[in-house]
Amino acid sequence: EKGGHDYFMLKEIEEQPQAVADTLLGHFANGRIVLDEQRLSDQELRDVDKVFVVACGTAYHSGLVAKYAIEHWTRLPVEVELASEFRYRDPVLDRSTLVVAISQSGETADTLEAVRHAKDQKARVLAVCNTNGAQIPREADAVLYTRAGPEIGVASTKCFLAQVTANYLVGLALAQARGTKYPDEVAREYLELEAMPQLVARVLETVEPVRALARELAASPAVLFLGRHVGYPVALEGALKLKELAYMHAEGFAAGELKHGPIALIEDGLPVIVVMPSPKGRAVLHSKMLSNIREIQARGARTVVIAEEGDEAVRPFANHLIEIPASPTLLQPLLATVPLQVFAAEVAQTRGYDVDKPRNLAKSVTVE
Ligand code: F6R
Repeated sequence: EKGGHDYFMLKEIEEQPQAVADTLLGHFANGRIVLDEQRLSDQELRDVDKVFVVACGTAYHSGLVAKYAIEHWTRLPVEVELASEFRYRDPVLDRSTLVVAISQSGETADTLEAVRHAKDQKARVLAVCNTNGAQIPREADAVLYTRAGPEIGVASTKCFLAQVTANYLVGLALAQARGTKYPDEVAREYLELEAMPQLVARVLETVEPVRALARELAASPAVLFLGRHVGYPVALEGALKLKELAYMHAEGFAAGELKHGPIALIEDGLPVIVVMPSPKGRAVLHSKMLSNIREIQARGARTVVIAEEGDEAVRPFANHLIEIPASPTLLQPLLATVPLQVFAAEVAQTRGYDVDKPRNLAKSVTVE
C-alpha cells in the first residue's frame, strides 16, 4: 500500500503530478473556471472587493502563494492570515469580503472558527478542501476541492501542491467574475497550469542528487531558507518540513530582510537553501537574489541553490545547484517546493526518524 516505499509520505511525494492534474480536472469547462459548489451568485462573486485567506501551517503557506496570483490577476487586495490570529482579532469584514479558508482536513479547529468569525460578520466564505463533506466546506458559501486523495503522512506534501493549484483556480475564477481577465486570457493561464503536472514529474525524476546532498548535510545544526516573491512562501514551507520531519532548526526568510537581521546568523559552513526566481521573469527579482547569494556566500554560507535550467548567472554562487524546469514565475512554487520536501524527508531518514509520524504532531488538529 506504500507503493514500494518505506513510508506513505515518500509515496505521496511521488503522487504529486497526479494530485495537481486531478485538482485541475473538471474545474475548467466550456471556457470557464468552475467551482465544485457555489451557493453565492455570480453577482456576489463579482462584487467582492477584498480577500482574506485564512489557514494554518502548510495550508497557510499555500495561501501566501495565492496572494501573489490573486492580486496580480484580479487587482483585489488580499491579506493572508494565520487562522489562529484572525479568529481572535477584530478584522474589518462585510458582505463584499471573500474569506478563502484552506484546509486539507476541513476540520482544523482554528480554521473552522475563523470561518464562523467571518460569517458572523456577513463575509462570504470559499473553502479549499481535500475532504469531501468536511465541516469547513459544509459551512462555506462556495467550495473548490483539491483532489489529492487521502494523505496519510502527517506532514503535508501532495496536499500542499494541490492547494497551491486550487488557489490559482480561485484566483482565475475571481478574475473571470470581475472581468479583470478576458476569457481567452483565463484559458491561456489554465493551459499553463495544465502543463505543470508533467514538469512536477520531471523534477521528481531528477531529485537523486538532492537525497545525496541531504545525507551529507544531515548532521548540520541548522539550515536557513531564502526566497523572494513566490519563492518566499516556498522557503517557509521548506523550513517547516525540515523542522517537523528532521527536528532540525530551520528558518525561512524573505531575502530582502537579510540585511535587517538574519544575515547575522550566517557563519562558516552554514547551509542556506536559496529559491532562485526565473531569469526570464522579472529581471529585478533575479538580480536582487544574485546579490543576496553573493553576500551570504562571502560570509561563508554553503549555498544550495534551486534555479531554473539554463540559469548560468547563478552557477558561480551555488556550492550545490538543483535545477528545475522553466515555468511561469507565479507557478514556480509547484516545482521549487518538491526538492525541499525530498530534502527534509531524506535528512529525517538519515537521522533515523519515522517520516510518517513526526513526534508531537497529529494529522488533523481538531482541538486547540
Ligand atoms: C504540515 C502540516 C500542517 C497542516 C496544518 C493545517 O506539514 O501538515 O501544518 O498543514 O495543520 O491542516 P489542514 O490543512 O488540515 O487544515
